[in-house]
Amino acid sequence: MEILNIYGSLNGQTEKVALEIANVAEAAGHNVSTVNLKKEGVIFELLDYDLTFIGSGVYTWLPGKSVKDWIDRQLGYARDNNLILPGSPRIPGKFACTYCTYAGPHTGEAEAVPAIKYMGQLFDHMGITVVDEWSVVGAFVPKKMQHFNTSGRLGNIEGRPNAEDLKQVREKTAGLLQNLKHG
Ligand SMILES: Cc1cc2nc3c(=O)[nH]c(=O)nc-3n(C[C@H](O)[C@H](O)[C@H](O)COP(=O)(O)O)c2cc1C
Repeated sequence: MEILNIYGSLNGQTEKVALEIANVAEAAGHNVSTVNLKKEGVIFELLDYDLTFIGSGVYTWLPGKSVKDWIDRQLGYARDNNLILPGSPRIPGKFACTYCTYAGPHTGEAEAVPAIKYMGQLFDHMGITVVDEWSVVGAFVPKKMQHFNTSGRLGNIEGRPNAEDLKQVREKTAGLLQNLKHG
């Protein structure tokens, strides 16, 4: 498959997940383009890819600025090119997986849900089927915010995503690739 692996990552937490995805997909023999949206203000021909992974940290229960800005630009491009049709008919063989890293300091996993849904809507509007949605715990990195890592709804999340979290990402990536292969 041609795989697009895009992410926004303010403090590098989501990048850890994106790099695991890239490693697993490349090792499985797929062509993978990994792009940090913070660094590159690009527009993609999304329909050139069989599967797109898109990830972001969570900021006020939505994706971060680099991802939201990219979605705005990409949505404008899709509208200008008639890529969003009434009823958003499914396009066979075109898939997306959205994920976030989040700390859930106030309301826990509920803070991750709007972020992954928000990202998924761009793909769903274009007829690209969102096949999976992942929420991965990611601790606050800035020093002055680290008290949230031990006082939030999720309990102690220091050091996350940890080795076990990243192992789960590798396994879910491998599982998703297998699923689409057999589908
Ligand atoms: C300024 C700031 C605001 C944040 N706001 C939220 C939030 O509203 N909800 C949440 O679940 N996590 C929040 N977080 C935690 C981040 O979503 C989490 O650490 C994530 O893994 C960061 O990913 P990134 O470094 O890839 O951007 C916030 C982190 C920072 C630094």
